[in-house]
Amino acid sequence: MKPTLAFDVYGTLIDTHGLVSKLREAAGEKAEEFSRIWRDKQLEYSFRRGLMQNYETFAVCTRDALDYTCTYCKVPLTGEQKGELLENYRTLPAFYDVEESLEALKAAGFRLYAFSNGSAEAVETLLAAAGIRGMFLDVVSVDDLRSFKPNPAVYSYFLKKSRASSGDNAWLVSSNPFDVIGAVSAGMRAVWVRRSPEAIFDPWGIEPTLTVSSLTELDESISVYLAVEGD
Ligand code: 2OP
Repeated sequence: MKPTLAFDVYGTLIDTHGLVSKLREAAGEKAEEFSRIWRDKQLEYSFRRGLMQNYETFAVCTRDALDYTCTYCKVPLTGEQKGELLENYRTLPAFYDVEESLEALKAAGFRLYAFSNGSAEAVETLLAAAGIRGMFLDVVSVDDLRSFKPNPAVYSYFLKKSRASSGDNAWLVSSNPFDVIGAVSAGMRAVWVRRSPEAIFDPWGIEPTLTVSSLTELDESISVYLAVEGD
């Protein structure tokens, strides 16, 4: 059977910096920095809430991180401007290589899932807006467990929900190094999608099974890996 692929959503399929041009209206030349801090804080808040077992949805982490970022960057957005940004966050754009690659992978027989820290409702909305919902067999959200990646329990939950035969036949596909390390540590295989040569992988000694620079390389990279392994 062709492998099961668990696609991370925010930062892998969907560009979390897709609001930079909108942010320029309010944050001017700080827009890039603002976007980066917003994303970093959003993830930090999810990690901390997971560890503290004080769960709120990823959307709440995103909202609280936006408040923090406004204060940190000294960009005093009104409640209305924040509301508009958070609404736009629900329909962030997909990366350039996503639609074509997913179509090809689906046609090749891979079992495709979206697997995210976002709630099922938020992920369904994002994927539908990007026109790619139809590529996936299902959306698996950590919200069901009220925890976040990289808790190993959420990777096990994915294997159970997708009925992947084992971690060996299920691959996480993610641009987020913390996610790749979390999946490998939990017994899955994982592809790191390194779209930019500037992206750095955490030096923990836990390596991605494979690294690609675009989703268009996935099918061939995984197939070659499995063929060599099967020899
Ligand atoms: C996601 O789970 C980690 O943001 C990433 O979609």
